[in-house]
Amino acid sequence: MNIILLGPPGAGKGTQAKRLIDKYGIPQISTGDMLRAALKAGTPLGLEAKKYMDKGELVPDSVVIGLVKERIQQGDCAKGYMLDGFPRNVSQAEALDGMLDQLGQKIDHVVCIEVPNDELVERLTGRRTCRECGAGYHVKFDPPKKDGICDKCGGELYQRDDDNVQTVTSRLKVYSDQTEPLINYYDNQGKLRRIDGVGDIDEIFGRIVAVLG
Ligand code: AP5
Ligand code: ZN
Repeated sequence: MNIILLGPPGAGKGTQAKRLIDKYGIPQISTGDMLRAALKAGTPLGLEAKKYMDKGELVPDSVVIGLVKERIQQGDCAKGYMLDGFPRNVSQAEALDGMLDQLGQKIDHVVCIEVPNDELVERLTGRRTCRECGAGYHVKFDPPKKDGICDKCGGELYQRDDDNVQTVTSRLKVYSDQTEPLINYYDNQGKLRRIDGVGDIDEIFGRIVAVLG
């Protein structure tokens, strides 16, 4: 099963992806995580991407399309995958359709997680992530047992550079201008599954599983 997780920054794509990959046994492909990993490794691609990410803008299409094309052809994607944060504009969606055609694959479901903007700002500015294992937390909605320490691996929790109010505001605008048109794009293909993203994390997981079957 090939799935796209669509939704604004902070909608819970990453949070739900971590649970969904366990249930369905398919890998999560997060372009945001891939770009942050490239930055951490100090590669030229990562350093270039940071300029855009810090401003809340999209990294150039050619960069992310290349990353995804390479990733979906790796062995662990043979049984399917979950795209998180890609595609993010119509030209990325068209490029994805083109590469899937070539590979004889298709997208089965596009899960769109919907959350109002004021809640998104609170979620993003309170998000914390584990430096070691990547687990996600929220200072108020999903706090770790010990302040600043990951429950799962004991790693240090940090705040993403782009989770400040100014960059979040720009990311939300980029979402409504460039990514939201994908809702129609996939609705026209009959693949869109809208999910109410407000409520308890486990409850939302249940809503997604009910749709995916
Ligand atoms: P990316 O890393 O993809 O970030 P994003 O799309 O902005 O999404 P987030 O990771 O911020 O949100 P999420 O929906 O995963 O929320 P989460 O589950 O963590 O992209 C970052 C940047 O990289 C972009 O700005 C761009 O520059 C670049 N980039 C990436 N992909 C690109 C592409 N394809 N093309 C071009 N550029 C690209 O949840 C958020 C918080 O809320 C957490 O603290 C969580 O604990 C909490 N939470 C989750 N669910 C709930 C709930 N139900 N109730 C309360 N709190 C909740
Ligand atoms: Zn951890």
